[in-house]
Amino acid sequence: MHFELTEEQLAVKKAAREFAQNVLKPGVIERDERQKFPAEEIKQLAELGFLGMMVAPEYGGSGMDTISYVLAMEEISKVDASVSVCMSVNNSLVCWGLEKFGTEEQKQKFLVPLAKGEKIGAFCLSEPEAGSDATSQRTTAVDMGDYYLVNGTKNWITNGSSASIYLVMAQTNSELKHKGINCLIIERDMEGFSVGPKENKMGIRGSDTHTLMFQDVKVPKTHRIGDDGFGFTFAMKTLSGGRIGIAAQALGIAAGALELSIAYSKERKAFGKEISQHQAIAFKLADMATDIEAARLLVYKAAALKDEGKNYDCASAMAKLFASTAAMKHTVEAVQIHGGYGYVKEYHVERLMRDAKITQIYEGTSEVQKIVISRSVLTD
Ligand code: CAA
Repeated sequence: MHFELTEEQLAVKKAAREFAQNVLKPGVIERDERQKFPAEEIKQLAELGFLGMMVAPEYGGSGMDTISYVLAMEEISKVDASVSVCMSVNNSLVCWGLEKFGTEEQKQKFLVPLAKGEKIGAFCLSEPEAGSDATSQRTTAVDMGDYYLVNGTKNWITNGSSASIYLVMAQTNSELKHKGINCLIIERDMEGFSVGPKENKMGIRGSDTHTLMFQDVKVPKTHRIGDDGFGFTFAMKTLSGGRIGIAAQALGIAAGALELSIAYSKERKAFGKEISQHQAIAFKLADMATDIEAARLLVYKAAALKDEGKNYDCASAMAKLFASTAAMKHTVEAVQIHGGYGYVKEYHVERLMRDAKITQIYEGTSEVQKIVISRSVLTD
């Protein structure tokens, strides 16, 4: 076991940090306030090769490992989680699944522009009545011979309006329950597909989250990923890796709050000395730093297992559960350390606190992670 990052990994971390601090930070408060999707910033992220980080160069990606991906996710999430969720969904939930399970034709047509960042992808599993209970898909994909006829609604879809390629889970044979679900690639301009209004959210307000509607959308059979009925397994396998990305996002939000808290507590004076010299604040910083380091180890471990080709289902669930809990707890502490200043937008920590909450909800709530972890420890 060794804990050193390679020179390449350190270079990715540095590039991501510079991008976050120099490009993302100046406009992040305004984007949050105005719920403005970071379109220009996402273009620049694509130029860095960060939208298809783990995709092989032959398919337009950067060919990096998962450790590099989580390092970049952490640095970007320290500043703007609305950018990092777009990045995470494109990398983990869309590009990874297409590269792993797509046909050569699907890879050439869809993966290449997604990995280059010329197009953005979305992953569509959640429905009005199927969030945690993901097998209860109501969206239907009726087999019509050489195409599927898709009808239904998807909720809370990240990149909902900025995407042009959508991976959509839909029920083809309800008698087979989850074994009758397919994953279909739906393009933005297909007839019958429409995007609902943007959700007005507590956090990650720059990210465009939408309801999507499908009304008699004809999807060619060549757009199905994997064999008939593979859709639910596809979604679960993809989400296992996605959770590493969101764990890294939560880690970044928490680590960003710690960085701001350390800097502030060294400047702000009370009772005749810097507040960092008061044990009440110093111990908060100690608790934050310890939990964040533990989260980091869990995130890196899950990423390393994925890079080594080992099973990471339980590790990614543990990383997400722990990192998102730490993010929520310690962003609240960061606001407390900042006192009255923490409650106003200019100091960034109130946004990090609002952004942290979603990491306990999307890509599987904390309760869902506990289902995955408990089933794993009970069967090992
Ligand atoms: N890999 C492969 N197969 C898996 C799997 C995995 N990691 N996890 C489960 N499966 C398989 C099971 O083996 C089972 O198959 P068989 O019947 O053939 O054995 C099948 O999937 C059903 O699994 P379960 O019996 O465990 O199903 P369940 O109903 O008990 O639910 C669950 C399991 C873990 C709760 C699952 O429904 C789940 O993960 N729910 C949360 C969904 C979720 O994460 N949604 C996030 C939406 S996407 C998002 O948020 C993106 C974004 O925008 C940021």
